Amino acid sequence: MKLLSLYTIILLLSNIGFTQCPVLPTPLVYQDISGELILGKSISINSKGLPISARQFLLDKLSALYTIQFTESSDFAQLNFVSINQGASHEYSMNIDKEIVVTYNSSESAFYAVVTLIQLFSENNGDVVIKKCFIQDEPAFAWRGLHLDVSRHFYTVAEVKRFIDLMSLYKFNKFHWHLTDDQGWRIEIKKYPLLTEVGGYRDSTLIGHYNDKPWKFDVNRTGGFYTQEEIKEVVAFAKSRNVEVIPEIEMPGHSRAALAAYPEFSCTENQLGVPGYWGVFEDIYCSKAETVEFLQDVLAEVVELFPSQYIHIGGDEAPKNKWENCIKCQKVMKKNNLKDAHALQSYFIQSMDDFLSQKGKKLIGWDEILEGGLSTNAAVMSWRGEQGGIDAANMHHNVVMSPTNYCYFDYYQSGNSTEPLAIGGFLPLSKVYEFSPIPNELPLENHKYILGGQANVWTEYISNFKHVEYMVYPRAIGLSQNLWSETKPSYDEFLKVFRRYHEPFLERLNVNYSKSIYLPTITLTRILDGVKFNVKGIDEQQVYDVFTKEKGGLSMGGGHVMGWNDSLYFERPPDGKQQHIQVNISAPTLNQDVATTFCLHNGLGLHIELITPPHPKYNHNGSLTLVDGVKGKRPWKGDDWLGFNQNKVEIIVDLREEKSLKDITVGFLDAKGSWIYLPETIEIYAEKKPNEWELIRKTEIQEENQKIELSGKASRIKIITLPIVKIPSGEEGAGNIPWTFIDEIILNFAE
Ligand code: ACM
Ligand code: ZN
Repeated sequence: MKLLSLYTIILLLSNIGFTQCPVLPTPLVYQDISGELILGKSISINSKGLPISARQFLLDKLSALYTIQFTESSDFAQLNFVSINQGASHEYSMNIDKEIVVTYNSSESAFYAVVTLIQLFSENNGDVVIKKCFIQDEPAFAWRGLHLDVSRHFYTVAEVKRFIDLMSLYKFNKFHWHLTDDQGWRIEIKKYPLLTEVGGYRDSTLIGHYNDKPWKFDVNRTGGFYTQEEIKEVVAFAKSRNVEVIPEIEMPGHSRAALAAYPEFSCTENQLGVPGYWGVFEDIYCSKAETVEFLQDVLAEVVELFPSQYIHIGGDEAPKNKWENCIKCQKVMKKNNLKDAHALQSYFIQSMDDFLSQKGKKLIGWDEILEGGLSTNAAVMSWRGEQGGIDAANMHHNVVMSPTNYCYFDYYQSGNSTEPLAIGGFLPLSKVYEFSPIPNELPLENHKYILGGQANVWTEYISNFKHVEYMVYPRAIGLSQNLWSETKPSYDEFLKVFRRYHEPFLERLNVNYSKSIYLPTITLTRILDGVKFNVKGIDEQQVYDVFTKEKGGLSMGGGHVMGWNDSLYFERPPDGKQQHIQVNISAPTLNQDVATTFCLHNGLGLHIELITPPHPKYNHNGSLTLVDGVKGKRPWKGDDWLGFNQNKVEIIVDLREEKSLKDITVGFLDAKGSWIYLPETIEIYAEKKPNEWELIRKTEIQEENQKIELSGKASRIKIITLPIVKIPSGEEGAGNIPWTFIDEIILNFAE
């Protein structure tokens, strides 16, 4: 980034905290000038030298959003664009006072200036106006991406264009088009017409969540694909929006749709259909020479259609058992002296890397391409956390950061029951806003390998485009801030700007954005006798009507008007008793009540020692989660479960005084599609002397909420759960340590 001039720094400092910049992502420098420039119903423009597509975009967007006429002027006009070609190449600035003067260095920065201008327009008393200010701006990261999976659900050309159009309004510049996967092949390949004729369609689609058995199917045939002409049209459209399209052709895994069309390119050569359900499939491309040739033929057509420097070849989630049992794969390994299947995958990817290099392209793939050795020129897209990105950058390979815990927009955006069905996980806007593409552990000298970041929109549970918009906005705006700016306002400031300026903007654009930020957030804290309940809205003005009633009771019980600083207290009931309280939260801004049920049991709010630490991703409210009275929900959202990824989970519950034990119910989650398995066994110990533990029960786990009878007395108990050591072959996540998800630990003492 160019050094700021002293003048700009003074401007910057003089404005910190005093003004609110309406533009998101926030420009590098914003200086408020009081008031608005009133344009009325028309504006004169001197756009000499402004790239045609940027000019067209400005006119198209403004006339779609406002009632305004444009006149072109060759002299000084109300709106003037000046190309200056100096300094950092993507910098622009604008001064909006009595008239508007915009300067820019490159066609890219001209586009950014136009987007900023569009955001500064508004309407006041029937007049079109623009906020007066001075802005100087440039992007922090070169890769500001959004991904869209068009395989699990197909979106039309018009919808894909809308996706690109909207992302360009928040200065994203990379559209990662996930064109092939198990459930559908979406790009016409002339040499292999069956890819789309057969692989472009499936006969059924799973209804409901993958983890909910028995499965039900919608048996309507569904699918679609893009012709090469349509692909060119999308690429050209994206270019006009300053967006580069990066195609993804998945290999060697996630290839069932292609193999349904051409089974000869698998290891078994068995004819299998295009699956109508999700997950990771064992049938993948064989590594034999015929398949490599087929894929290179496909890539040869792909590189002609996409001018992007990078071509994404997937590389994720490719189970290796077919390769391990395939004579042809074994031959490839032997011939090339490859020690295992990971080395074979690395060899396979290297052959694609060589091919793409010959075509003047660069290969990018998911972080699994690091396993078995990273190919020479490859860039890595780090999704399974940050480690893959760190390792690749330390090896001096380019990296795009897209870790699940900040960048997976298929996750839930609130913990509320009103959210539409999603894959799982929990990623509210506030969490997205915390993302930084540069991992903390990465040494400074390797920061330059981080190209930027990207959010991914996997669409197993997103069957229409309105729903895509719901999942992407406003989270994409939060992400754009992290990718555009090296410094950013506080989340509270960001929210204020979003609500004041960008909700109206999204409304004007008719975007079906999520309003989940307005849903109440319940906070539970431990108190001596149980838990304290608070409900927070988006700001201190928000109050809710909170009704509590005994579950099964006839009438609504206590009604409470609750704001930020009001609390309810739920107390541990007397030994041997349990109480179920239903809490309903309503407010005029909610179109539906939010309901939660509390189970007040003898363990409520007790102190818990987590000997085994939960994974940081699934440790939302610490140990209290296990005894807060709220049972973990399904589909799991990650905010009400503790998730462990270890071979043993050890937990101590302090009962505060000696109690006569009666029973315990430990809630576990069985969600194999998310690699979350029930543990095999549970052991309960009673403390005899300080830190001397006696095993009082050991039992196999058969179900999610298994009640275990206990006897004897104790003032501390220890729970140890032992998962299956490794997920067995043929199951989801085979070969990995399964996740153990726990909530709630319900204790019942003898009266
Ligand atoms: C991925 O989410 N499998 C890249
Ligand atoms: Zn094979």
